[in-house]
This record gives sequence, structure tokens and C-alpha cells, in this order.
Amino acid sequence: MQLLARTQRSLQRASLHYGHGTDNARDEAAALVWHALGLPLAPMPARLAQPASARQLQRLEKLVQRRVQERVPVVYLTQRCWFAGLLLHVDERVLIPRSPIAELIEQRFAPWIDARRVRTIADVGTGSGCIAIACARYLPRVRVDALDISPAALAVTRINIRRHRLGKRVRALQSDHFSALGKEAYDIIVSNPPYVGRREMAGLPAEYRHEPEGALAAGVDGLDSVRVLLSQGAQRLRAGGILVVEVGNTEREVRRSFPRLPFTWLEFERGGGGVFLLTREQLET
Ligand SMILES: C[S@@+](CC[C@H](N)C(=O)[O-])C[C@H]1O[C@@H](n2cnc3c(N)ncnc32)[C@H](O)[C@@H]1O
Repeated sequence: MQLLARTQRSLQRASLHYGHGTDNARDEAAALVWHALGLPLAPMPARLAQPASARQLQRLEKLVQRRVQERVPVVYLTQRCWFAGLLLHVDERVLIPRSPIAELIEQRFAPWIDARRVRTIADVGTGSGCIAIACARYLPRVRVDALDISPAALAVTRINIRRHRLGKRVRALQSDHFSALGKEAYDIIVSNPPYVGRREMAGLPAEYRHEPEGALAAGVDGLDSVRVLLSQGAQRLRAGGILVVEVGNTEREVRRSFPRLPFTWLEFERGGGGVFLLTREQLET
């Protein structure tokens, strides 16, 4: 407990930016202490009460140093992350999972589509595979194509597919948006694409520089990927299918650039926003 408080104080003194799945020093301190001491994820009180060894303390010291001095996000230090209740391997080849879309997946995309009729899903820009894997877990009969342009990211996607034993239902494919596909069409296309504009990229806190630039940067106005999804989405959706895209705080730019599209902006109980939904029929208008 003392160790936790001490680590928390070290982080607080450093004026860090919290934007990678936590919003406070206490949670980050807990993640680092747990990792350095090799504590099980559901800790036994007895083990928590034991004093830490010199080696464990040294390990923790190094982790705190990297968090404070190099501004490495905690998830890259622990290399694990929860998404929609699922534990994933995450390293610097992929964006740290934090999309509010997790909540929608946990609700099996209700009330927007009847989960019983969903057979296929595409996750465009899959990164760690968090969205694709969560879709396969929450909708146990669907097949998911996990698409990403980055071979390095896809190596991580494949680690997570294997860990969750989903090799039969989740396919990781290198693809520039839909380019590597044949005639595939989907009931749901879901995407958390890059959506950071050039000016915003230049002003991001240091923590974000540890994430792959290609996972964040999307041209001058942040809409490079969104434009492709909006122009090609309808062709890739089956009748009654839906497109769900996270655009974060680029929402205003999206509304301004596509004034005729009847976006539904989703709301989330656990917070977060900037996610729109369109049906195939709406995309065709
Ligand atoms: C914001 S990250 C999202 C990762 C993951 N889906 C998540 O929610 O944590 C965007 C991902 O899109 C990928 N990407 C960037 N440009 C792409 C493109 N043209 N086609 C496919 N994927 C792309 C990046 O490599 C990155 O993994």
C-alpha cells in the first residue's frame, strides 16, 4: 500500500498527460506496481501485504522512470490492456485501445441492428485487433475481417487472435482500407481509423509520440480515412448493414464536410463520443 502511494506521488509530481485508458495517477501507479511485482490480476490480499523484494523495487523504479522521463504510456510498459472486458497484448506497434465503441460491442450493436442476423463484420484499421476480437467474442457466430495497412500492427493483431483462440473466425488481412478484399460485403463495418489533422498532430502531448504515427495522422484535416470509409462503405455493406466510425474530436470537421449525410452520433454511458453510425441506405443518399 505504501508502495502504491509512493508511486502515485512520483507520477503526480511529474504533470503527466493521462489519455490512454486512465485519467489519474492512482490507476497508473496501481498498474505499474502490479506489473513490477508480478501480481496476479485478481490479487490475493495476502500477497499484497508481503514486502516487495529489492528486485521488484528496482523494476518498479525503472518503470516509473520511463513513465515520467520518457512519457511512455503505462500500457506500453505493462504490455497489457483491457478492452470490452478482454485482456489484450499491446505494444508500440499498435495504438493503445480506448475506443468507446467497446460499449456498443458489449451491447451487441443494439438497438441499431439485430445481432441474430449478423454474419460478417469488417474492422477497418484493426491495430491490436481489439474491436475485431471483441466483436467475435460478443457475437459468437460472426466471422470478422480485421484489416490494417500496417504489417507491424497485424503481427500484434495475430498475437491477440491466437490468445483468444479466434483463428477460425477472425482473419487478419493487410489492406489499405478495403483494397485487398474481393467481393466481400458485411453486415457491420466498424472502424476507429486515424483521424488527427496536421495541426493537432503537432500539438499532441509527448505520450502520443510513442504511438504509431500511422494510427493517428490522417492528412491535413484528419479526414483522409473517413472519406474512404464514406465513399466505399455502401458497396461493402449488405442491405440493412451499418457503418460505425469513431472520429473523436474531428466530429465537427466531419459534420461540416458532409452536411448532407444523416449521421447518428452515438452516446455512451461510460463516456467518450465522436462516433457516428450510418446505414447502407443512408450512405447511398
Ligand atoms: C486509431 S488506430 C485504431 C486501432 C484499433 N482499431 C483501436 O481501436 O485501438 C488506426 C489503425 O488504422 C490503421 N490504418 C491507417 N491507415 C490505414 C489504411 N489506409 N487502411 C487500413 N488501415 C489503416 C493503422 O495502422 C492503425 O492500426
